[in-house]
Amino acid sequence: MTAPTPLIAGNWKMNGLAASLDEARATAAGIGQSRARVAICPPATLIRPMRGALAGSAVLVGAQDCHPQASGAFTGDLSAEMLAEAGARLVILGHSERRAGYGETDALVAAKVHAALRGGLEPIVCVGETLDQRKAGDALGVVTGQVRGSLPPELAGRAWSVAYEPVWAIGTGLTPTTAQIEEMHRAIRATLREMFGGDGDMPPILYGGSVKPANAAEILHAAEVGGALVGGASLKAADFLGIINAL
Ligand code: 13P
Repeated sequence: MTAPTPLIAGNWKMNGLAASLDEARATAAGIGQSRARVAICPPATLIRPMRGALAGSAVLVGAQDCHPQASGAFTGDLSAEMLAEAGARLVILGHSERRAGYGETDALVAAKVHAALRGGLEPIVCVGETLDQRKAGDALGVVTGQVRGSLPPELAGRAWSVAYEPVWAIGTGLTPTTAQIEEMHRAIRATLREMFGGDGDMPPILYGGSVKPANAAEILHAAEVGGALVGGASLKAADFLGIINAL
């Protein structure tokens, strides 16, 4: 069995104006012989200009969310088809900031995954426990439950990934121990095999939450870690490259 190709994706969240495209250009220019696929997911306003700025480079552009429907009366929302037309190749779905801030349920995330596949986007589906859930000993159950609820069967045979992002590690500078990451990633892999059979070995399982150049090598080489979803440290090319080149 060959390991899935790693994916290192930057999630710019609600950060970035046109001037920030220079960081994306510098990232593309600084990547050496990476084994990983590299993506940047800017705010939707920058998808098209970033595709232009990165033309000719291997760096992919992604989105951070999509609506389940292809079109309709959904003020302020964007469909997978729109994001794909703007130049996105991937889309982050079910990020904890959307689960917590907008009440996104596993069922809604699964509907968005369906939409992403319909629109031609590769989903990166996020799961992760809160600190209270971890302290209560529920981390494995919560995360594997999110995996079961957020991943529709039609993902079999498609390109996609899971991102394990403990909520308490996002933007805090805290990270789980390598043993905790490996325990969770193994549990996610076992769940994917139960759900998808042999296809459950295909998607890389990314780790996200306070990944920085200083901790990237240890995290990226941990068992069952197939890349990273990087927030703050993806905004500056020097930091993002330090992570990419740690693999
Ligand atoms: P930080 O890397 O800033 O902790 O954010 C992680 C994250 O939420 C990526 O989606």
